[in-house]
Amino acid sequence: MHVMTKAFIVGHPIKHSRSPLIHGHWLERHGREGSYERLDITPADFPDFVRTFAARGFAGGNVTIPHKEAAYLAVDRRTERAERLKAVNTLWVENGLVWGDNTDVLGFMAHLDQSLGQDWEQAVDTAFVVGAGGAARAIVAGLQDRPIRRIVVTNRTAAKTEELIRDFAGGTVQLESIPWEKREEAVAVADLIVNTTSLGMAGQPPLELDLARARQGAAVADIVYVPLKTPLLAAAEARGLRIVDGLGMLLHQAVPGFARWFGVTPTVTPDLRAIVLADI
Ligand code: ATR
Repeated sequence: MHVMTKAFIVGHPIKHSRSPLIHGHWLERHGREGSYERLDITPADFPDFVRTFAARGFAGGNVTIPHKEAAYLAVDRRTERAERLKAVNTLWVENGLVWGDNTDVLGFMAHLDQSLGQDWEQAVDTAFVVGAGGAARAIVAGLQDRPIRRIVVTNRTAAKTEELIRDFAGGTVQLESIPWEKREEAVAVADLIVNTTSLGMAGQPPLELDLARARQGAAVADIVYVPLKTPLLAAAEARGLRIVDGLGMLLHQAVPGFARWFGVTPTVTPDLRAIVLADI
């Protein structure tokens, strides 16, 4: 008997999501009978959606803007990672209970490992994270598990930097803040610079960050992937710095969800990258 497994991505709006391309590719590649559908659900209807998706025949799905915090509140059980981030992007059902995980952390770290090579942390003393929103929290959480000495965070709205630092205090990695106006000072001491803001995205101003004082051998990562080469990454490349683009995080964060709903762990291949890139 063939069982057709259904999964979804839920957001509002949702039409620009590339996730259906990713999961569609994997379904085909692994010969799974299944579907991955876009669902546009308003914030008012979202809590009810979490309660009823299983009855509607879905095994689970992804959650995107603006529902990640609401999903965190609506689920029955959360993984430790989701608990720490107070945001959920992956849902599934286990023994009648709705579970929530946050795979952004794994997505960013897996792509970083793949781009910079094993043991990249050995060469990193200080990581500099620009931004303090949901993506910044995931990235700080991921970096905190690695053997680096220090993470410096900056954000336009200082109160959010302080909140992030309060929430993530403890652990062996030192967490510090630097005022937005002084962010260039952190460039000079950073071995890894990560833009987690939406600056640099098509239609948005670029992130203003002068890389003239960047360390030789430093790496610059961006979570923005439209365009793939943001002004920040282009400037980094022009200075001979290593770059880590934003597309890999999107591709890698999709892996754990697919594995849960469809029962096979997919891989992020150059083919998949090319398919998604063709849509950007
Ligand atoms: P996400 O979940 O993608 O991280 P978010 O939580 O809304 O989204 O966070 C967006 C981040 O981009 C924040 O760090 C935000 O800074 P503020 O906290 O000051 O709003 C940052 N950001 C967005 N637009 C910006 C701009 N024009 N200048 C500086 N920072 C900006």
